[in-house]
Amino acid sequence: MTTPPAAPGPHAPSLDLGGRTALVTGAAGGIGRACALRLAVAGAKVRAVDRDATGLEALAESAAGLPGAVEPHVLDLTDLDAAELAAAGTDVLVNNAGLQLVRPLEEFPPDVFHTVLTVMLEAPFRLIRGALPHMYGQGWGRIVNVSSVHGLRASPYKSAYVAAKHGLEGLSKTAALEGASHGVTSNCVNPAYVRTPLVEKQLTDQARAHGLPEERVLAEVLLRDSAVKRLIEPEEVAEAVAYLCGPQASFVTGTSLVLDGGWTAH
Ligand SMILES: NC(=O)c1ccc[n+]([C@@H]2O[C@H](COP(=O)([O-])OP(=O)(O)OC[C@H]3O[C@@H](n4cnc5c(N)ncnc54)[C@H](O)[C@@H]3O)[C@@H](O)[C@H]2O)c1
Repeated sequence: MTTPPAAPGPHAPSLDLGGRTALVTGAAGGIGRACALRLAVAGAKVRAVDRDATGLEALAESAAGLPGAVEPHVLDLTDLDAAELAAAGTDVLVNNAGLQLVRPLEEFPPDVFHTVLTVMLEAPFRLIRGALPHMYGQGWGRIVNVSSVHGLRASPYKSAYVAAKHGLEGLSKTAALEGASHGVTSNCVNPAYVRTPLVEKQLTDQARAHGLPEERVLAEVLLRDSAVKRLIEPEEVAEAVAYLCGPQASFVTGTSLVLDGGWTAH
């Protein structure tokens, strides 16, 4: 057991991850891309993991000139052994990769259910497992799990996604309890609908499942429960991830930072 770092002073400097290595999954687009860039701005060497090689190349180009660096690592996270290996030696782990299918339970394809659980729950477990020995060894580590409002609330037609995110919440809390005495925090961030390809791709499915024309889905399905009537931007989610990696958040662990425009206030 190592001694956790002391509390920061009242006016600790902003995030400095110089000399730190961060691994971000699903970094080729959307929230993961924004997180990778934000952590590179803070000086981290970012291992950017995704199965989309083209998106990773574009990310690496965008990161040129930032204080840190982005190293593309093409990997399909359904290869769980490779995922665990890839996490070795990282100081910051952002479990972000995800996928969505909107279908009623009785029509939900079992193979897709299995893949969603593998990528969004089992891979985070294996990545945490791979990252912890180094984090524990140095007495410092940050695990941030990109969950969702759907880690806390269900919506119809999203059985696999809601099940995976609720599971991720439990995994994150367990990692927090085990990691605390080693200086490792683990938290979730829980956005409502973010302006990313994942949301754009589900508009058609949502329209079909709810029996609505596609142009009504945004207002009547996605933003129905949000008090703030807009999508959140990926960069806003990345800022919350950055906060959880900083010295000001060393006492924040085992919790869920909800960015939902008031959805769960209902
Ligand atoms: N977009 C939203 O509204 C929203 C809201 C709440 C939470 N989230 C969560 O945020 C995370 C990122 O979502 P996003 O909206 O940026 O989605 P996105 O589709 O833009 O990005 C997801 C990334 O994950 C990658 N990925 C998927 N399966 C993979 C696999 N098997 N191996 C490697 N990479 C894989 C994709 O290639 C993609 O680059 C997800 O966990 C999602 O559940 C999204």
